[in-house]
Parts: sequence; C-alpha cells; structure tokens
Amino acid sequence: MLRTAILISAVFAVGFCCDAFPNKTDTTLNWFPSCTSKITVYSLVAQDKSGNAEYPIHLSAPLYALVNLTNSGSVYNQMKLTTNLWSWGGWSGCDWHSLPTLGMLSNLDACTNGIPCPIPQGNQQLTITMDFTKFGNIIGLLQDDQPYQIQQVITAPNGDTLCITVQARARIK
Ligand SMILES: *[C@@H]1O[C@H](CO)[C@@H](O)[C@H](O)[C@H]1NC(C)=O
Ligand SMILES: *[C@@H]1O[C@H](CO)[C@@H](O)[C@H](O)[C@H]1NC(C)=O
Repeated sequence: MLRTAILISAVFAVGFCCDAFPNKTDTTLNWFPSCTSKITVYSLVAQDKSGNAEYPIHLSAPLYALVNLTNSGSVYNQMKLTTNLWSWGGWSGCDWHSLPTLGMLSNLDACTNGIPCPIPQGNQQLTITMDFTKFGNIIGLLQDDQPYQIQQVITAPNGDTLCITVQARARIK
C-alpha cells in the first residue's frame, strides 16, 4: 500500500508536474535576454575550449558562449558582472530554485571575469567565458546531469545593462 502510494506520487511528479528538463533542455540550450538593454543579442552557442559546439554544457571546466550581438549603446570599457544560478525541480514544485552563491558571483569586475572588454558599438561576435571552476563551493552545490539556469547581469557605470539567461543541461563531472 505504502509502496503503491509512493509509486503513484512519483508518477504524478514526473507525469503531471515536472518536466525533468524544462524548455527542451534535455537536447537544446535555451537562452533569452532578461532585461532592457541597448545591446541586442541574436544568437548564443556554447563551445568547449577548442571551439566545438558543446551540449550538454560542462560546468566543471570553463564554458565559452559565442554571442552575436549589436551594441547600439556606447563603447563599454568597464562593467560589473553578477551571475545568478538556479537548479530545477525540488519538493516545492517544478520551478527554478535560486542557488546560494554566497556573494561570490556578485558585482565582479566583468572585464576580468569573462567579458571581453571593451564592447565596441555595432554588430560583432564575442566570446563570453563562464568559469565556475575557481568557485569550488558553488560547483559543490551542483548535481551532475541536471538542468540549470544561469543569468549573467552586466551593468555599466552609466546604468546601461545587458542580461542573458541560459537554461541548459549540465554535466559536472
Ligand atoms: C522557457 O523559455 C522561455 C523563453 O525562451 C521563458 O520565457 C520561460 O520562462 C522558460 N520556462 C521556464 C520553465 O524556465
Ligand atoms: C550575426 O548574425 C547575423 C545574422 O545571421 C549575420 O548577418 C552577421 O554577419 C553576424 N555577425 C557576425 C559578426 O558574425
């Protein structure tokens, strides 16, 4: 009886509540701009260090995001970078749950933390590096082969912003 109840709740959890990988992240990286910006992002592709397309992404090694964008703002020489992380699922429903980054990923100097500076005006292709390997405490929070949501919030001294949210299946090992 108990076993049946557990089985039924498991079936409900998977069948009616949770997609194990939301937004088709089992097979595809999903990304979207997540704040108002003078920079328009057209495409984002995850790559490994050799420049090969990579999916699932690996968070236990530096990750490279090849981004095609048009900057209609100013030349950005100096910016702050905050990275937010979420895991998926959990007991309190099928949703993104914010992971505590203990301030380690907040208000960093963008130019020395993966953003190629300066960002000139106009259309360009640039590579953003996301390297969590130096944050062992954060990698320790992550489970292998799960969907994660990563948001990078870039803020210039004049208040201009660029925010990109990526949802991806990630390997940790
Ligand atoms: C799925 O992606 C869209 C944008 O591509 C986003 O608006 C939506 O919130 C995402 N759903 C979840 C569950 O993250
Ligand atoms: C960005 O993508 C557009 C549309 O595919 C393309 O025309 C343009 O050449 C790309 N820009 C760069 C710098 O690769």
